Amino acid sequence: MADGNTLWHGRFDGDASQALRELNDSLPFDRRMYREDIAGSRAHVEMLCEVGLIEAVELQDILEALEVVEAEIAEGTFEWAQSDEDIHTAIERRATEITPSAAKIHTGRSRNDQVANDVRLVALSEIDSLAEVLGALIRSLLYRAEDAHENGWYLPGYTHLQRAQPVGLAHHLAAYCWMLMRDLDRLHEARGRADVSVLGAGALAGSALPIDPHLVAEKLGFTSVFNNSLDAVSDRDFVADLLYSLSVVGVHLSRLGEEICLWASSEFNFVELDDAFSTGSSMMPQKKNPDIAELARGKAGRLLGNLTGFLATQKGLPLTYNKDLQEDKEPMFDSCDTVRLTALALTGMVETLKFNEDAMKESADSPYGAATDLADFLVEKGIPFRTAHSVIAGLVRESLESGDDLVTLVESHEDLGADAAQLLLPGIGSRRNSHGGAGSDAVSIQLEALRARVGDLR
Ligand code: ARG
Repeated sequence: MADGNTLWHGRFDGDASQALRELNDSLPFDRRMYREDIAGSRAHVEMLCEVGLIEAVELQDILEALEVVEAEIAEGTFEWAQSDEDIHTAIERRATEITPSAAKIHTGRSRNDQVANDVRLVALSEIDSLAEVLGALIRSLLYRAEDAHENGWYLPGYTHLQRAQPVGLAHHLAAYCWMLMRDLDRLHEARGRADVSVLGAGALAGSALPIDPHLVAEKLGFTSVFNNSLDAVSDRDFVADLLYSLSVVGVHLSRLGEEICLWASSEFNFVELDDAFSTGSSMMPQKKNPDIAELARGKAGRLLGNLTGFLATQKGLPLTYNKDLQEDKEPMFDSCDTVRLTALALTGMVETLKFNEDAMKESADSPYGAATDLADFLVEKGIPFRTAHSVIAGLVRESLESGDDLVTLVESHEDLGADAAQLLLPGIGSRRNSHGGAGSDAVSIQLEALRARVGDLR
């Protein structure tokens, strides 16, 4: 490990305490941004040259040095120095060892605008990669939904975790697809918020030098440029937006996880997990545990924690940059990694789930599941829904109390009869074909719409 002084040592007499260094240094977690930091430096020095603040030969030297630095870090041969506080100082220190011209890199720039820009670049590429991972999960759910639809598989739909009305498994799985599609929309919005270049804001007030932030933004591929230097260096809304979007993803994955846990229990027995996506018990040989689904549920906690923790970090901050803002990176990286890993594991789990058609059917096939259809039958004959509801409720009660078959009661009821009794036959309840409903025709239309949306994903 090379030795050296921090970039700001000139103002100080003694060395920094060990505790200060350990608390203060962000290198252990921000070295992950080295590519973005170097990209920012490249754009910055090219701009410096274009506006005449450095010579073309200096630019060449610096660009070559940055290339070496990038390769060293990528290959793991980079020698980190005691004095490297963070990735920005480490890269600049090393570049300056390679060429004295690199002492000009920081012209018209501060770590305050530099770090905010780096974090924005990381957010953009993380969002793109997360969108792909979530897209794959949506595809695997849609694939299973289409298959279930073709097979006509159905299960009880629940409210209050009480059996309510039978629904197609396709309809149920597609619900998760729509939830995750909204997550992609939210991530896309968060991307827009991150897509603003802030290099050129300086420490907080811009620069007296003729720097050109628009040029830098263009080189880095940002869509827009900051408008207020104070806001630029202290704004981390885009991090909070991303953490919020990922919290909602986390909540959705958690709900899917919980559902799979229930379904995999002996009590439901709706699914069997593939060996590759379940674990055993060290003591009880008969067990197959849904750990992935449980972790999907559990990880939501830390995603929410990252969001609320980081909002709390920001709430008392006066303008502009305060070191508190260094706390932006760990929650952001953690939430991105957590969602990525969880979604990947769930994708594999969903792809390999074995649905137990018979168990789902058996649970769904209670004639009571058709009670609403019976009420609708009366409504179609002109009877007000409230009256119809109470007639059917009376029959259900009678059947439960007397033990008489509901089918027989329906058949012998003067307003119901044999046609109505047909509704009690086992099945998916395919009559509920109102827009977005669980009926088979409505689900076919829905799946087509979903396929089109999924096809539009990159
Ligand atoms: N490591 C710092 C961070 O992550 C970089 C910015 C440091 N700026 C400063 N004025 N000390 O926020």
